[in-house]
Amino acid sequence: MCGIIGYVGYDQATPLLLDGLKKLEYRGYDSAGIAVYDGNLIKIVKAKGRLKSLCDKLSAISLEGHLGIGHTRWATHGKPSEKNSHPIASASKNFAVVHNGIIENYLCLKENLIKKGINFESETDSEVVAQLLDLYYDGDVLNTVIKVINIIEGSYALGIICKNEPETLVAVKKSSPLIVGVGKNENFIASDATAIVSRTKNIIRLKDEEIAIVNKDNIKFYDKNKNLISKDVFHIDWDVSVAEKSGYEHFMLKEIMEQPKAIMDTIKPRIKDGKIFFDGISLSKEKLGNINKICILACGSAYHVGYVAKYIFEKMLRKTVEIDVASEFRYMNPIVDKNTMVIAISQSGETADTLAAIREAKKLGAQALSIVNVVGSSIANESDSVIYTWAGPEIAVATTKAYSTQLSVIYMLAIYMADKLSKVSYEQYNSYIKDLMKIPSEIEKILSGHNLIKTLAKKFYNCKNVFFIGRNTDYAVSLEGSLKLKEISYIHSEAYPAGELKHGTISLIEDGTLVVALATNDLLYEKMISNIKEVKARGATVLTLTSQKHKDIESVSDFNIYVPDISDIMVPSLSVVPLQLFSYYIAYFKNCDIDKPRNLAKSVTVE
Ligand code: G6P
Repeated sequence: MCGIIGYVGYDQATPLLLDGLKKLEYRGYDSAGIAVYDGNLIKIVKAKGRLKSLCDKLSAISLEGHLGIGHTRWATHGKPSEKNSHPIASASKNFAVVHNGIIENYLCLKENLIKKGINFESETDSEVVAQLLDLYYDGDVLNTVIKVINIIEGSYALGIICKNEPETLVAVKKSSPLIVGVGKNENFIASDATAIVSRTKNIIRLKDEEIAIVNKDNIKFYDKNKNLISKDVFHIDWDVSVAEKSGYEHFMLKEIMEQPKAIMDTIKPRIKDGKIFFDGISLSKEKLGNINKICILACGSAYHVGYVAKYIFEKMLRKTVEIDVASEFRYMNPIVDKNTMVIAISQSGETADTLAAIREAKKLGAQALSIVNVVGSSIANESDSVIYTWAGPEIAVATTKAYSTQLSVIYMLAIYMADKLSKVSYEQYNSYIKDLMKIPSEIEKILSGHNLIKTLAKKFYNCKNVFFIGRNTDYAVSLEGSLKLKEISYIHSEAYPAGELKHGTISLIEDGTLVVALATNDLLYEKMISNIKEVKARGATVLTLTSQKHKDIESVSDFNIYVPDISDIMVPSLSVVPLQLFSYYIAYFKNCDIDKPRNLAKSVTVE
């Protein structure tokens, strides 16, 4: 949700800001802008639309200077337009500000500022920050920022420059991520490390209400009482290539192909001598025995991972599992106590609703364990314990490798807990570990057959409606298959528990409606065959997805995709992959903007 970059140093700011914005464009792409101090004034150039519009505009302008901020926007307050895009200047033009988040009390602040005779140029909530900085400026930018953050409410990551302090970049955040990049004779701020990793791999994560005063050769951190604080530098171990397509046409395809490695990176370090270990997490038999409910909180695809987890945990642990969309959980007066194990799942670790849901659960006494991809992110910081997925940065808005690595952590957690609770035999444990280690190579096999899926996608890319059906974990995977298709191809689709379709939705099936039927679950295979016959009888074209051992499915289906045979609990890791590829190629044939689907953002840091 919106991307921020800031630069101060020996080099020209404009190309660095644009390069950073290119890497951040997946966070927001309805407008973009930069502000650079040119030795005399802060000059701002903005453009509606993709970053390319801004680059085109800048190619005709010379904007030189060594201090600047940039922003790529995903609109919340005020429609996408040049006027509403960032950076936003204060009335005196002494300040320019870029903002991610939402200033919740902006209407009342704006009213008061207007009463004081201050004119507003945009419809954004962010402009109040720029105007307040002007109003409270006392010659010391740190004092001024502290005054302003004491007034504003809501969430913010702010990058600020001030004409009167032309060698200083200011950063401050609350409930929205912001980092400082430490370079040599140059320093950066950014909403995420991909924007700056080509220049520095040393970063410092700001915590809420910490302020960074960044000059080209020194950085000082303060709390909001103006106390100097010291912060640790974190060294990034991934490369700029993750933010590049490396020959693939889209990041999404690249990330689909990276799944075997990402899963192996996530599971391998946690299996020693055939046993699962989680660093820094101790779940004793007694502790687990006291848990009366597992409550999984997440949004979007991470919620779908939670759906798979519900089936697996309940089957293996025989404990009640509740799975809640985080935005609902936070306001539903949840029934959670000290004996509830809360598991939050989040790629970014910054999703506002998931973060708020954890806070709510913790307030009620629960212990929160999170499964997160970004080290040091807010959700990781606020959880009692964390299991990191090692997917590496994910750039495509539609998640693939993060989903898959989250799922592999779920299997490990299920096996680990089942073992502690003595719910799994020695033989079964070993067989699970064997299957777990097999997942990456089995996914390789599916990926090598991607041309078959491309051919199928070519047949169906003109569909108007698609239904995904399945039972048990097949239903949970259907949810993700359907979401992927909607997100990137804009085809209406719905996922239904196969047995539920006849209670209403089957009325939508007509001649030629595509039904994607997942039938990997051995125990429910015959039931699925009946459901497939039901929809066929109403004219549906059926594409089935099942395991290799179920070749007999060809007698009822029109088209088939097979995944290698593996244990029931782990088959979701395989079956999701053809569905990702199917959505990808459908969007490809529809000529959609696959990596940046309309209206969506990668990381939703606002409510
Ligand atoms: C957005 C993304 C989804 C993602 C969801 C949750 O909607 O487009 O792909 O699943 O947020 O994000 P998180 O970072 O918490 O996993």
